[in-house]
Amino acid sequence: MILPIVGYGHSVLRVPTKQIDKNYPDLQELIANMFETMYRASGVGLAAPQVNLPISLIVIDATPFVENYPEAEGFKCVVINPEILEKSDETWTFEEGCLSLPGIHENVVRPKTIKVRYLDENFNTVEKELSGVCARVFQHEFDHLQGKVFVDRISNLRKAFLKKKLSDIASSKVRGDYKMLK
Ligand code: NI
Repeated sequence: MILPIVGYGHSVLRVPTKQIDKNYPDLQELIANMFETMYRASGVGLAAPQVNLPISLIVIDATPFVENYPEAEGFKCVVINPEILEKSDETWTFEEGCLSLPGIHENVVRPKTIKVRYLDENFNTVEKELSGVCARVFQHEFDHLQGKVFVDRISNLRKAFLKKKLSDIASSKVRGDYKMLK
């Protein structure tokens, strides 16, 4: 089932999320719906707040990047209650977009490599190092779980340039070409 995606300006994108456990109702169905929603919108990651649920859950499929970024090979995962354990001092810049901010693409600087721990869809603990676009997508989605969006990480000057676009999204004047929450 396709879920409506929440646009910038909605308060759910600003709430730190709650951890979940195995008893979260209909979790596997929710995960399947989040993947379906993400694919329909041609996204590579989707965090639960973007479907109006303030819980610590992300789906990622970065494999569309594989042609230019080989590290994306096979990087499809469900991420529950994640932690970022380490971040590299080395950073890199990459142009990000977000399904909650249709039409906006901005360069964002982030650590190049991170070490993460999370639970997968079977609640098995996964601990691994991610680099390049894998670390990029993970950090972008992780931010959503902290109530942050990527335009929080650009300069005030760039943000000032985007003010009108952001307010148009917040007032639903600008929508993605996918189902969005009114
Ligand atoms: Ni996003």
